[in-house]
Amino acid sequence: MAKKSSKNKVLPIHILNGPNLNLLGSRQPEIYGKTTLAQIEKACRARAKEHGFSILFDQSNKEGELVEMIQRARTASSAVIVNAAAYTHTSVAVLDALKMLSVPVIEVHLSNPARRENFRHTSYVAMGATGTIAGFGLNSYLLAIEAVAHLLKK
Ligand code: DQA
Repeated sequence: MAKKSSKNKVLPIHILNGPNLNLLGSRQPEIYGKTTLAQIEKACRARAKEHGFSILFDQSNKEGELVEMIQRARTASSAVIVNAAAYTHTSVAVLDALKMLSVPVIEVHLSNPARRENFRHTSYVAMGATGTIAGFGLNSYLLAIEAVAHLLKK
């Protein structure tokens, strides 16, 4: 069941994006495509709306800010979708914050890190996630919304 606020409103899905994702569209388009983060946000809002959810969409290049966003999501969200970008592979702090959540957590990646350099094969985020969707570009985010909708309808 989706979590509700004290005013009985369904809480939003938090979609959190880590470092360098603000430059999507021009950042290594051969890997990440030409879609911008603003376009991803727009598509996510539309898909979430179809399922009756609003979204809160954030990006930060700073690890501590991502931790604070995750902490806020503890009481303010129905689910968290997180692309921690490079912090996926390094951040115990992000993992520890995710472990405090009791709502579904979906890890997403535009690319498929398992097919890339060895250092991308470790994901700290995965240890704090309900599941992971990777390798489908913008669709990774939309599939994550489908997963959340499915999980919360149970
Ligand atoms: C990424 C994959 C990470 O390895 C990388 O550091 C990113 C983006 C992705 O969405 O494919 O910044 O999370």
